[in-house]
Amino acid sequence: MAATLTDHPFLRACRRESTSYTPVWLMRQAGRYLPEYRRVRDRFSFLELCQDSSAAAQVTVDTVRRLGVDAAIIFADILLPLVPMGAGLTYEKGDGPRIARTIRSMRDVEQLHPVSVEESLGFVAQTVRLVRKELENEVPVIGFAGAPFTVASYAIEGGGSRNYVATKSLMYNDPQTWHRFMEIVAGITAQYLNMQIDAGAHVVQLFDSWVGALSPHDYRTYVQPHSRAVISALRPGTPVIHFGTMTGTLLPEIRDAGGDVIGLDWRVELDEGWDRLGGSVGVQGNLDPVLLFSNRETIREAVADILRRAHGRPGHIFNLGHGILPETPVDNVLSLIDAVHEMSRR
Ligand code: CP3
Repeated sequence: MAATLTDHPFLRACRRESTSYTPVWLMRQAGRYLPEYRRVRDRFSFLELCQDSSAAAQVTVDTVRRLGVDAAIIFADILLPLVPMGAGLTYEKGDGPRIARTIRSMRDVEQLHPVSVEESLGFVAQTVRLVRKELENEVPVIGFAGAPFTVASYAIEGGGSRNYVATKSLMYNDPQTWHRFMEIVAGITAQYLNMQIDAGAHVVQLFDSWVGALSPHDYRTYVQPHSRAVISALRPGTPVIHFGTMTGTLLPEIRDAGGDVIGLDWRVELDEGWDRLGGSVGVQGNLDPVLLFSNRETIREAVADILRRAHGRPGHIFNLGHGILPETPVDNVLSLIDAVHEMSRR
């Protein structure tokens, strides 16, 4: 008999229903801070691991059981769609993703390959099916993708960036190329997320990690229509978490692009951020990931503060304000999960 997870606190919180405790998971919960993960990584490159559905599913499942979190995020990466597009993505040891063929002109955009997500990224759907099967009676499964701005920024810059000069230059100087590229990325992203939903993802998260680099005006003009296009193309009935960092001044704009739950980082107090968003959405966040380098007492105080600000309002999913960092002590991560579960029980 397949038990249903419909009433799991994580899914109830996504729907802004009351829960018996505050559900918690951590962005980048399966990562280099875990010795188990590092051992798996010794046998695969990062891309190989993403493409090997059974190994990737195992990483997700082992992490969930090790940490006792309330949701399982698929092991993959927001930049994977750039591979079939022909951008030449590699992950270099120590300095993150690199793009060989950057996008700077309409000619570059026209040379991108058409993408069939089922053919080129079907391994992610298979990972979702495997995780779903393994965790059927335990926790809900989160699929994810990068939002158009954050994915496009890597393709344009050639990697990570501090000031987004190439990205914003394209936006301001050649808006036609900018919008064409964003439309292409948005179209692929929507298909990629729908594929994960069809494979069994209970919830999807759209990562617009670096969108806080934009002014509210530029967000509305250059980004919001494309993020909205992605979210409005998703199969109805699947909750969407819309995440970004440094978005304190963009929160209403991000909410208006769509999403049932909006991610908050630690630069905004949870209650103020939630007030700015209004009552129509839930929130996810927002512990500073660097607090996990402190100690059990300090972590518990920070958790208490966040829970106090959430004030038992339905629709809070506890998380970090951004991904967990590589050197994070595992014991502190376990203390955090325990603290959230224990201190939020009602
Ligand atoms: O537990 C999980 O959340 C697993 C899945 C996951 C990964 N990346 C695995 C990964 C998720 C949800 C991501 C999202 C992601 N990827 C984002 C958005 C979240 C954020 O942190 O802002 C971004 C910007 C990326 C792009 C990316 N991928 C970068 C910048 C890097 C290198 C730097 C780094 O943090 O490692 C990656 C590689 C990557 N993605 C790793 C993992 C586990 C490390 C690869 C390794 O094992 O060496």
